[in-house]
Order: sequence, then C-alpha cells, then structure tokens
Amino acid sequence: MADMAFSGPEPDLQDLLAARPQLQMHAQDGLCLEGVPLNAIADKYGTPVWVYGAGTMRARFAALRDAFAAERVPMHIHYAVKANDHLAILNLFREQGAGADVVSIGEFLRTTKAGIAAKNIVYSGVGKSEAELEAALAAGIGQINAESAEEVEMISAIAARLGVVANIALRMNPDVDAGTHAKITTGLAENKFGIAAEDIPALYARAASLPGVRVVGIAMHIGSQILSTEPYRLAYEKAAEMVRALRAAGQSVEVMDIGGGLGIGYQDEPGLNPAAFAAMVRQVTSGLDVRLMMEPGRYLTGPAGILLASVILRKQAGKRFLVLDAAMNELMRPAMYEAWHGILPVDASAFHASPSPADVVGPICESADIFAKDRALPDLRPGARMALLDAGAYGAVMSSAYNARPRPAAVLVDQGGFELITKRQEIPALWDGEIVPGA
Ligand code: LLP
Repeated sequence: MADMAFSGPEPDLQDLLAARPQLQMHAQDGLCLEGVPLNAIADKYGTPVWVYGAGTMRARFAALRDAFAAERVPMHIHYAVKANDHLAILNLFREQGAGADVVSIGEFLRTTKAGIAAKNIVYSGVGKSEAELEAALAAGIGQINAESAEEVEMISAIAARLGVVANIALRMNPDVDAGTHAKITTGLAENKFGIAAEDIPALYARAASLPGVRVVGIAMHIGSQILSTEPYRLAYEKAAEMVRALRAAGQSVEVMDIGGGLGIGYQDEPGLNPAAFAAMVRQVTSGLDVRLMMEPGRYLTGPAGILLASVILRKQAGKRFLVLDAAMNELMRPAMYEAWHGILPVDASAFHASPSPADVVGPICESADIFAKDRALPDLRPGARMALLDAGAYGAVMSSAYNARPRPAAVLVDQGGFELITKRQEIPALWDGEIVPGA
C-alpha cells in the first residue's frame, strides 16, 4: 500500500508557491491567499486560524463541472460534506448548484441548514442508525446508498412505517486497489465498505420486491487521495458490467454514483486531472444511459484552505525544532496518515532567506505531534507566522480540543476581502455541558 507521503524529492518554498495559483508572495505584505495578506487576518483574529479561499473553491468546482461538460457527460456533483462541513462552505457549493453527500444526521441537518434541499442529498456510510434513517427519510432525503442486505431491510421497514418510499442505491465493493494509503482505501474486499459484486444481483432483486424502497442503481467509492484514473477505470468497468447484468435480469437501473476520492498535489505530485478523469468516465459509461453522480470532497476544498500558525519558540536540541501554536489536534493528517503538508513562512524576508532543516512541531504532549520532519525552512523567530497548506479538507472537521485547546477561528477570503466565519472558541466553552456530580 502506498504511503501517504509522495516519494519524490521535496519541493522547495518557491516550488510550493509556484504550484499554487491561489497563493502569492508580496514583497511588503508577505504571503497572500487570493490577494489577501495572511498577516492582516492573523493581526485581526490571532493564530492558529483557519483561512479558506472562496474563489479557489468556486474555481475548482467549475473546473470539475467544465471537464464533464467538455466530454458532454451530464454529471451531478454532490459535495462530500465530511471534507469540510462549515455552513459557509456548504452555502458556497449550494450557490454553485452542488448537491451533497452526507454520512450522519448531523451532516444532513447542517447541509439542509445551509439551504441544500433534502432531495439533493445522498446519504452514504456503513452504519446509519434507525433514528438517523428515520429523520432523513421524514425530511425527504433524495437517495440512500445502502451498504448491506441488513441495511436494505432496515431502510424498507422504516420507510414503510413512515409511509414513504426510499430511493436507494446499492454500494458495490469492486475489490479494486485504489493505490492510496491503507487508512483511506475503501474498495478492497477486506474493507468494511459496500456489498460484494456477487451478492448484488440477488440483493437488487430482493430490494425491488420490498415495499419501502425503490432501488435506483449502483453506488461506489473506492478510496480517497487517488492520483491515477486507472483504479477508477477498473472499478467503473465493473460497475458498468453490473448495470448491464442487472438490466439483462430485468431490473431497472437509473443511477450510477461513482463516489469521490480525487487526489490533490500535496507535495507537488500531480493531482488527479479532471479532464483525464472525465474522459475516462465518458469512455466507461458511454451508451450506458444512467444518471451519473459523484461525491468529491478533498478535490473541491483541500487546496483552498490554510492553517495559519505562529512560532512559539525555536528549540535547538541537537536539531532545530520550531514549536508552533497549532498542533495535531487542529490538523491531524500528518500524525494520522504520515501526510505531507507544505509549510510556507508568511513574511517575504523569511521566504527568501536561506533554509536549513527543522522539525516543525506542535506543543502537545505526544510524539506524533509533528507537522514536518527535517523540512528546509529559514531561520524563523518566535512570533513568525507560518502557513500550513492544503488544509481545507479533513482539517477543521477532524480536529479536537485535546489538551484543552479551544477551537481556532475560521476566516473566509472572498473577492479581495475577508470575513470571520467561526469565532474562536472561548476557553470556558470547553467545559460547557460538563456536570460534576453533587456540585
Ligand atoms: N464518498 C464517500 C462514500 C466517502 O467515504 C468519501 C470519503 C468521499 C465520498 C469523499 O472522498 P474525497 O473526494 O474527499 O477523497 N480523512 C482522510 C480522508 C477520508 C475519506 C473518507 N471518505 C484524509 O484526511 O485523507
């Protein structure tokens, strides 16, 4: 299984900047996101702070949509809410015409709160509780991707009780190696996800006979941070074969949900190319006559986000450590997946100074609290600001308050300005809801 960190040579600071059109280095203002100086944001809201670029998210949505339009493939994009579930971001994708893919009733309610209609929401996930299914069905959810025979029965029973009919797709496990990190691969037979291909035809027929469900098609999601179209091609060919076999057996198949997983360039490995992806989808599905849907998360939000931090202190202990005010509780990806994130100094003078290796770490009492090892960085003094790049997906959503660290603020950059979209959590809010018996 591939490691999360790309094996190529590490890009230097200039390379990181050059590969990211959303970032600019200004001689006076320092590093900017979409033309807005990160220093201005840190001055106003402090650090650590999440910063998201609305223009970048819109541009990436448009790039994906246009890639399919160029292939004349009608594609319904359902943003995978789990990548970044902020209401402002859900609202932005709603404005672009996206539907959503959710995995819990919490995500479902956030998404409808942001104005995305229930009928444009797909509910995925390997374990949806009775209460969650009931709430989603009562609210008129558009589609549920079922992951087991047991779940199909459960959905039918709940829907029948509510007097509604649930649109369901069966999530097929194609048994394909997505070539990504073991912790984010989902399409292998050994993974907990989906239904084995050989079990689909019988379950499809069973579902078609149940009162509470209307089985509309096949769904699939083979993993995340996938950089090649090949595993997708293999998986989608299997899905297309299944669609034909089901129809040959007299079933009606209207929908094919091809999931998400499109990888981005963290270490300047080329991200999955939308044009190549769309062309492959056209080839594999041509003549199939299905309604195509997809569920991208990271591709849309990853590159748009920055975790902006400050150096607390420099520690020289054999090697150089830069201790930041951000930590693994905010951005968990390096600790959890050995993920590589670009790190840029915010000040132009530091950006141009000569680098030497440093470990960039957080202040948490865990050896895993490391953002980067032996990273070539200039001499950065306490107070110097640093931008952890590509943190817009699976960043804030995976954070915790470990070590009683309150949640950072978040800021949305748009059209040359910036606005607070999450207030920094006050420390007393950390024990809100806690009860001391007898007190
Ligand atoms: N659809 C389903 C059913 C999924 O499980 C996922 C992600 C997606 C869509 C969206 O995948 P994306 O396009 O974002 O790759 N925390 C990990 C990633 C976990 C992905 C889980 N499922 C990380 O930080 O790399």
